[in-house]
Amino acid sequence: MKTIKTRVRLNNRVEMPQFGLGVYKAENGMEVTNAVEAAIQAGYTLIDTASFYQNESGVGAGVKNSGINREDIFITSKVWNTDQGYESTLNAFQKTLKELDVEYLDLYLIHWPVEGRFLDTWRAFEKLYEEGYIKAAGVSNFQIHHLEKLLANSSLVPAVNQVELHPRLTQIELRNYCSEKKIQVESWSPLGRGNLLKEPTIEYVAKKYGKTPAQVIIRWHLQNELVVIPKSVTPERIVENANVFDFVLSQEDMNVLNQLNMNERFGQHPDHFKF
Ligand SMILES: NC(=O)c1ccc[n+]([C@@H]2O[C@H](COP(=O)([O-])OP(=O)(O)OC[C@H]3O[C@@H](n4cnc5c(N)ncnc54)[C@H](OP(=O)(O)O)[C@@H]3O)[C@@H](O)[C@H]2O)c1
Repeated sequence: MKTIKTRVRLNNRVEMPQFGLGVYKAENGMEVTNAVEAAIQAGYTLIDTASFYQNESGVGAGVKNSGINREDIFITSKVWNTDQGYESTLNAFQKTLKELDVEYLDLYLIHWPVEGRFLDTWRAFEKLYEEGYIKAAGVSNFQIHHLEKLLANSSLVPAVNQVELHPRLTQIELRNYCSEKKIQVESWSPLGRGNLLKEPTIEYVAKKYGKTPAQVIIRWHLQNELVVIPKSVTPERIVENANVFDFVLSQEDMNVLNQLNMNERFGQHPDHFKF
């Protein structure tokens, strides 16, 4: 039986919580600090931020205020596109540590596969990993062809690939590839940025279990063995999203949800992204 503390074992044996809080678009200061505190109080042990979100200092404050021990919370951050390259990544990483006010990260991700730069960025990640500054190194928004290039140039296999993934974008091919290479897939925009909450099939399944659409979607991610990081800054929703460990979707309902795939993205496509 899964619980809010359930962890997945990454390819380097580090254990990562399967469920956590995303904080994209949570404003730095009280908004993000309160969200992180509320989440930790509700039992969350994973927080997903990025230098691009400009709220790392507020995340760090929330972790501190909560009183949780550093080793009991799993913190992920990401290097932004304009910081990619060897030296610039090392500098950006130091800034991230300072903003969060921590001595190490549990997971550091390359935010997007910037062509011509991500291999140098990964060399910096290798150094940070070897020196123990990051417990695990991973990527985000990498397609199969990006991963192939990375694997051909490094013996450090990413522990995680964080990609847009939800019932309308099930990413089966990429998930199969990652599973073969022992790369854990983590779902971003797991609720489709909120766009899937009025989907009639999801509403129908939710009613059947006496749960909300958000809870059914989060459960779908968990039962697909994905790491899932729904974002909310609303205290009741933070609690609601964590209340997903007292029911199990039947295989039949999992299949129904799996069939909602339309390869629809609410965010940018990794091969055509512009920032
Ligand atoms: N690596 C990447 O490139 C990348 C890209 C995007 C996101 N991410 C990560 O993934 C996380 C999650 O993705 P996301 O923020 O894009 O979208 P999401 O988690 O799919 O959806 C968040 C939206 O849904 C609302 N919401 C959350 N729980 C709800 C509930 N129970 N009922 C009704 N509405 C609810 C939130 O509103 P309120 O906050 O107002 O409650 C917010 O507007 C991000 O925060 C970030 O950490 C990574």
